[in-house]
Amino acid sequence: MDNKWIDLTGKVVIVTGGSMGIGEAITADLKSCGAKVAIFDMADLKPEALDENTMYVKLDIRKKAEVEAAVAQVVEKFGTIDALVNNAGVTRPRILVDYYKECPQYELSEDDFDFLVGINEKGTFLVAQAVTRVMLEKHSGVIVNMSSEAGLRGSVGHSCYAATKAAVHSFTQSWGKELGKFGIRVLGIAPGILDRTPANNDEKYRAQAYGRGMGTDVKPEQFFKNYKTSIPLGRPGHLSEVADVVCYLISDHASYLSAITIPVGGGKD
Ligand SMILES: NC(=O)c1ccc[n+]([C@@H]2O[C@H](COP(=O)([O-])OP(=O)(O)OC[C@H]3O[C@@H](n4cnc5c(N)ncnc54)[C@H](O)[C@@H]3O)[C@@H](O)[C@H]2O)c1
Repeated sequence: MDNKWIDLTGKVVIVTGGSMGIGEAITADLKSCGAKVAIFDMADLKPEALDENTMYVKLDIRKKAEVEAAVAQVVEKFGTIDALVNNAGVTRPRILVDYYKECPQYELSEDDFDFLVGINEKGTFLVAQAVTRVMLEKHSGVIVNMSSEAGLRGSVGHSCYAATKAAVHSFTQSWGKELGKFGIRVLGIAPGILDRTPANNDEKYRAQAYGRGMGTDVKPEQFFKNYKTSIPLGRPGHLSEVADVVCYLISDHASYLSAITIPVGGGKD
């Protein structure tokens, strides 16, 4: 209780995509700060992550009815919602045209486009809308949207993903401006290279390497070796370093921040 680095005791926070990865790290950090967490995810939650201050709803954030029912369940169980971490998101590294003429499957398709926009943009909007209705009633709340360094700067081989994350940043700016007068802060976070990325998913890694002209056989050590120089802090970020920023943004210590996206990228452009 006394050694919490930020005190979120009793705050009720929804984390989408909280079953794994960054969302899992955010959930753990929020709980260590005393928050009650509701995880919305398509993927199953590890059983050990469940306790009396944690609830889990399996859903697809693209489905409005599922999202609205899940939000109602949180209010029923925990009585209110203080914050939303709109973290669930997907990537498929794709180049606009297969100019290397070896892997047509890594050229951006309509299916890729619909998949990325459907989850990263539509899903983010649907959850924010349902949660905002609850926050409006009590005239307070915080929404943290997960953008990406790619969304702020662009990224070779990730144009569609980057565009969805630019849209998320734009949601943050507009919703922050819309909702400020109702006591709701809206913030974005834009992580850069994180230390889980190489092991994240072989297929995604191969597609990303191919899109950057490195073929599909390049070793992760080689692919990631230039990060020592391209990231001013000389290393990828830890998931906990993203989670810590989220906890801060949700807390009252950030009470005058809204409508901006914070890069968490070790100083990388
Ligand atoms: N990993 C990185 O380096 C990085 C960098 C910048 C931004 N991000 C962003 O951070 C967020 C989390 O990334 P991650 O690397 O932890 O990803 P991840 O794939 O490890 O986890 C994403 C979670 O979202 C869930 N999810 C996906 N689609 C869903 C849907 N339709 N409905 C409900 N849940 C769904 C998945 O089941 C999973 O649990 C994403 O928005 C991502 O774009 C990641």
